[in-house]
Amino acid sequence: MDGNGRWAARRGLPRPDGHREGIEALKRVLKALDGRVPVASFYAFSTENWRRPQKEIKAIFALVEELNEKYLSAETDYAVNFFGDIDALPASVRRSVETAREKTKNNRGMLVNIMLNYGGRGEIVRAAKRLAESKAEFTEENLSAMLYTGYLPDPDLIVRTGGEKRLSNFMTFQSVYSELLFSDRLWPDMDGDDVDKIIKEYGTRKRTFGR
Ligand code: FPP
Repeated sequence: MDGNGRWAARRGLPRPDGHREGIEALKRVLKALDGRVPVASFYAFSTENWRRPQKEIKAIFALVEELNEKYLSAETDYAVNFFGDIDALPASVRRSVETAREKTKNNRGMLVNIMLNYGGRGEIVRAAKRLAESKAEFTEENLSAMLYTGYLPDPDLIVRTGGEKRLSNFMTFQSVYSELLFSDRLWPDMDGDDVDKIIKEYGTRKRTFGR
């Protein structure tokens, strides 16, 4: 969900206002995806984002709590999960994450994952430790099962908005055969039409998985 900061700067607004608008975009995108894809994952905060100003970090966490309380847990049929080092987050965010997981766990709609304090390399290291502890054989399949996403298929498509053309530590293990789509749109500008175009574009891709 890249481009929130630039969206705000172009309007002479503080960066957190871009993140707030990013939540509105997230709601639009979720609505457009609902019923068309079974799983959708969103990168909200990376393990590298701690280098940002405190004020901005606090604003992002506050938005996570707000989204959980006012929207995800209440109004929708999504089953919401969070991937990342949640234990290292402030207590109120941890509580909010737990509540959202708990409240939505029996929901039968789309699986919505939010990557929070997440990094793909860190996820691989965590998985390797868990696999070593489990004493299971070191195979790709067993390592994959130890990732946060262990119970999910690898992503078919990864979309990055905001014009940058890199994955920035997103699903490092899982992304090897994902289709990639880079859009110049800033995240807060995303809407249902963009989702339609993305799904159409995905339909034109030929996936061979190396075969
Ligand atoms: C990248 O834009 C965006 C982020 C680092 C945060 C995304 C967060 C939200 C949409 C709000 C919280 C999310 C949830 C799911 C509750 P940027 O700040 O790097 O923008 P820039 O590249 O234009 O500076």
